[in-house]
Amino acid sequence: MTALGEQAASVSAADFRQAMGHFATGVTVVTSVTADGSPAGTTANAITSLSLDPPLVLVCLDLASLTLQAIRQHGAFTVNVLGEPQRELSVNFARRGFAAAWDGVPHRSGRTGSPRIQGALAVLDCTVEAQLPGGDHEIIVGRVRAAEVTGDGAPLVYWRGSYASLDR
Ligand SMILES: Cc1cc2nc3c(=O)[nH]c(=O)nc-3n(C[C@H](O)[C@H](O)[C@H](O)COP(=O)(O)O)c2cc1C
Repeated sequence: MTALGEQAASVSAADFRQAMGHFATGVTVVTSVTADGSPAGTTANAITSLSLDPPLVLVCLDLASLTLQAIRQHGAFTVNVLGEPQRELSVNFARRGFAAAWDGVPHRSGRTGSPRIQGALAVLDCTVEAQLPGGDHEIIVGRVRAAEVTGDGAPLVYWRGSYASLDR
């Protein structure tokens, strides 16, 4: 490694988190289906649009994520963009484990079979186009098969480790 590379590698996780925390994002729940047909989902903000033609998004998921396992085997996922009133859903799907998270969460299957959560501002049904290494995460590139605006109102925002509102 070069001297510059060594310097870069010495950045602490805390400094990295704190600096990146200033990058305000929306919040999504990325959903898929497990091998036994149960719904799976995780809160995710490491997501971005990637390409318009073809329409691609990318999602970065922790290698330990159970939802990542489900996406790998199902080959598809849905991005549910959360609205401000859905803060509890974000907290709910930030807990590891499938079963309890879905109690009382109204949803139905989207174009690729992955759950669309009722009340989301927008949904994007995707098939897995590519899987790339990304350190302790995996980069999932999704080909968007259906994209719909399904709600109205303010988005849920995440900034500096907390939920925030968008003052307009
Ligand atoms: C606002 C917020 C954003 C998050 N974004 C991501 C993300 O982009 N990728 C990720 O792997 N985990 C992210 N997480 C953490 C996961 O939601 C959490 O680890 C979850 O327990 C994983 O669940 P699973 O193992 O059932 O998939 C985020 C958590 C919060 C609260």
